[in-house]
Amino acid sequence: MPDTLRIDGQRLLARLKRLGEIGALPGGGVCRLALTEEDRLGRECVVGWMRELGLSVSTDAMGNVFGMRPGRETGAPVMTGSHIDTVRTGGLYDGTLGVLAGLEVVATLNDAGITTRRPLCVAFFTNEEGARFAPDMMGSLVYVGGMPLEEALATEGIDGQRVGDCLAAIGAQGDQAVGQPVVHAFVELHVEQGPVLEESAVTIGAVEKVQGISWTELTFTGTSNHAGTTPMRLRHDAGYAASATATFVRELVTRIGGDQVGTVGSLEVQPNLVNVVANQARLTVDLRNTDNDRLTRAETELAAFVEQLAEREGVEVAQRTLARFDPVPFDPGMVDRVEASAKALGHSVSRMPSGAGHDAQMLARVCPTSMIFVPSVGGVSHNIHEYTAPEELTAGANVLLQVMLDLSD
Ligand code: GLV
Ligand code: MN
Ligand code: MN
Repeated sequence: MPDTLRIDGQRLLARLKRLGEIGALPGGGVCRLALTEEDRLGRECVVGWMRELGLSVSTDAMGNVFGMRPGRETGAPVMTGSHIDTVRTGGLYDGTLGVLAGLEVVATLNDAGITTRRPLCVAFFTNEEGARFAPDMMGSLVYVGGMPLEEALATEGIDGQRVGDCLAAIGAQGDQAVGQPVVHAFVELHVEQGPVLEESAVTIGAVEKVQGISWTELTFTGTSNHAGTTPMRLRHDAGYAASATATFVRELVTRIGGDQVGTVGSLEVQPNLVNVVANQARLTVDLRNTDNDRLTRAETELAAFVEQLAEREGVEVAQRTLARFDPVPFDPGMVDRVEASAKALGHSVSRMPSGAGHDAQMLARVCPTSMIFVPSVGGVSHNIHEYTAPEELTAGANVLLQVMLDLSD
């Protein structure tokens, strides 16, 4: 293993900056929601870099993109990658770091004239964020066979548009069968998006598992009426039901404690006027826990609360699961490799769980998988101020290089 080889941090930063210009927001950050015009431009940019680096690019029917670098032998590649879609208030590093660090690994090997034994592959997966179309990690879920392609293509987003139509509209649908290429091992570099590494002054996280994720959409339907004349005893207030649910979620996760977290991140009331009792309210609940039993308990308690509340208030409630993924343990041997490579490069390293969802948790269904984390300043992410220092981006990409060399030879 040529362990003196190092990636070019400036070149990695330049690509991160350039991709961050596509969908750039005033004040920093980026909005490249999945399958929008901004996503199309981002794809064009990254695919252009893949071709410049000599990768052969293929796209599957889900719009997942694969850049292959041949090895001395044929067979399943060692894959890295992540996603280039973002939430509406995204930072510059969530997802893009994993993809562009993969390209930086390829550029470094090209410069050094190294051909690995196994082929390498740099991938980016469609709609990791799930912010426009639920569930999150949709492209990698379809790739590993966890969701039928037809079901994914028929999924309606928050704007009523369908995944399949949007893929076609931006020309992102390819002809490769989903599930190709078959992969030997997968490793994803990502920013932590939480405070743990920074607080413990550690540079590299060797990610052991991803916590379980549960997304539910609740729609309450009541009766619109006059805010001044309707006695409280005659109200069927969907807005009240939604706010009581949001308050309950906070109480619930506090009571369960430990790693349990809960978020009401989207709440819309109709007709949304000062003097009209709301006749409809739609909200989302995001519950996560590393412990699946506790996560299930949180889901059960929420469902029971919502049923009782609806009955008391005389409103209808519809519950719809948008995403449900159990916690995912990564391959212990892969986690060891990340830890060993970080140590060999002289970096401090901690084993840790991931709070966020990642494409790697889907790839773990089909091959040995792990992740490399680098610190997020202030633990801030899904926010335009997301930031990781250049030295730490570089450190993470060098660990990625070593792990990929190790896996491919
Ligand atoms: C997706 O990346 C999530 O963790 O929400
Ligand atoms: Mn991400
Ligand atoms: Mn994200």
